[in-house]
Amino acid sequence: MTITGTDFTESTFLRQQPVKMLIGGQWVEAASGKTFETMNPSTGQVLAKVAEGDSEDIDRAVAAARKAFESGVWPKLTPSQRGRLLWKLADLIEQHAEELAQLETLNNGKPIKYSRGGDVPLTADHFRYFAGWATKLEGDTIPVSIPNMFTYTLREPVGVVGQIIPWNFPLQMAAWKLAPALACGNTVILKPAEQTPLSALRLGELIGEAGFPDGVVNIVPGFGETAGAALAAHPDVDKIAFTGSTEVGKLILQASVGNLKKVTLELGGKSPNIIFPDADLKFAIRGAINAIFFNQGQVCTAGSRLFVHKSVYDQVLSGLTDYASKMKLGMGIDPATDLGPLVSQEQLERVTGYIETGKREGATTTIGGSRPDSEQLPGYFVQPTVFDNVKDEMTIAREEIFGPVVVALPFEEVEEVAARANKSIYGLSAGVWTNDVKKVHKMAAALKAGVVWVNTYNQFDAAAPFGGYKQSGYGREMGHAVLDAYTQIKTVWVNLR
Ligand code: NAI
Ligand code: MG
Repeated sequence: MTITGTDFTESTFLRQQPVKMLIGGQWVEAASGKTFETMNPSTGQVLAKVAEGDSEDIDRAVAAARKAFESGVWPKLTPSQRGRLLWKLADLIEQHAEELAQLETLNNGKPIKYSRGGDVPLTADHFRYFAGWATKLEGDTIPVSIPNMFTYTLREPVGVVGQIIPWNFPLQMAAWKLAPALACGNTVILKPAEQTPLSALRLGELIGEAGFPDGVVNIVPGFGETAGAALAAHPDVDKIAFTGSTEVGKLILQASVGNLKKVTLELGGKSPNIIFPDADLKFAIRGAINAIFFNQGQVCTAGSRLFVHKSVYDQVLSGLTDYASKMKLGMGIDPATDLGPLVSQEQLERVTGYIETGKREGATTTIGGSRPDSEQLPGYFVQPTVFDNVKDEMTIAREEIFGPVVVALPFEEVEEVAARANKSIYGLSAGVWTNDVKKVHKMAAALKAGVVWVNTYNQFDAAAPFGGYKQSGYGREMGHAVLDAYTQIKTVWVNLR
């Protein structure tokens, strides 16, 4: 493989064929010997063959994680040493930043400027933030009302944790899952998405290089219905952390019933982004563009329902259309690209299917609505698309599209827009654009969402809790909130009499 203008060929990672999986500190092939192909969505061409994990590999990985947990090599390592290893991993990510950015872009399709400027540095940052938590997992002393009792709590790891992640931010999703789990002393089996296994596997090599003990992190690539389902149902897994579709989130929950494993779910969204007439419209329009087109709209928080006050609706819509027309579609690896391809043929069909449904139900596009010239862009590309003449009841206004498609909806009153914004099975995030401080707080209180962004959108930080209301899931990631997901509290009573 030659990619001119980059130092990617310096990486030996893709030269190993197939790319193997990480179990108990060893790089191994699938027990079945099977492999699957992973693609470059910018071209539709095969990038690598990858070992295809299934239930037997999950069994091996769970056994390795269990051994690492029970032997104490990880949970009993001093917190300071655990923190150091997480910090060292962050250093290694930075040392290999360019290689990781290219791998991420080649496998996911996302524009390289975002892999370089966002995905990779934020991944390193996540490990650094949680490196700090390893030494700060404190219990409490409890002033109980029973005489002579000394009562305290310990925060202990949950145990063996299965983590199933999606393909939209492969490296960052791995970091959101691994960093807090490891800081808290758990051992892990990570299953990357079948579309994008490469960067997580390269991360696995760096985990080995950093010096994490064998079996603390196991990475098993494979399909959801096989490897993922086996992990979710495994009787020796204590917890599953999942990010993906609401549909699969429900399956994970059902699979957890056997041994009542703990579950945290970060699922879909249909987030409202609301522009009031007193907003600084120039910023609001740019914000609405970022809210929907960032990562080709393949973001769980995508601002896919754009509510615009009637008095500025036409102005905002023409601004949006104008911006969208200037976005450069291109190969992920091209530094000039603003909008890359969708991740797969399946997502291409899903998104174009929604666009057709929108048109059939009577909505109209002000821009986009189809694929670009496939001779020039042979990958899974869709034009940035803005829908007008939309009704709240239409499919495209209710269901998660997960592509560069926004529906614009006019509104008149504050109470009205809050009610319409909340009329969704989802409640992941929301955006509000206004310079009126009263509206800011009214809306922040009224919106049923785990995150509300005011005069900004898609802000994430390792320190700020993130997660959903309603069918967008439960449990929180990031910040100190995620510690509840990866620890359990033990109460100790000591009779001092
Ligand atoms: P998905 O939910 O099927 O896949 C996400 C992860 O779950 C992958 O690692 C997959 O292998 C695994 N998985 C799938 N079926 C499983 C099962 N039965 N048991 C255990 N694990 C399983 O999502 P998919 O099919 O890639 O995308 C479909 C839609 O889901 C998207 O169009 C989007 O609407 C939504 N989605 C939401 C994401 C988010 O960030 N909240 C991320 C990815 C997809
Ligand atoms: Mg699926």
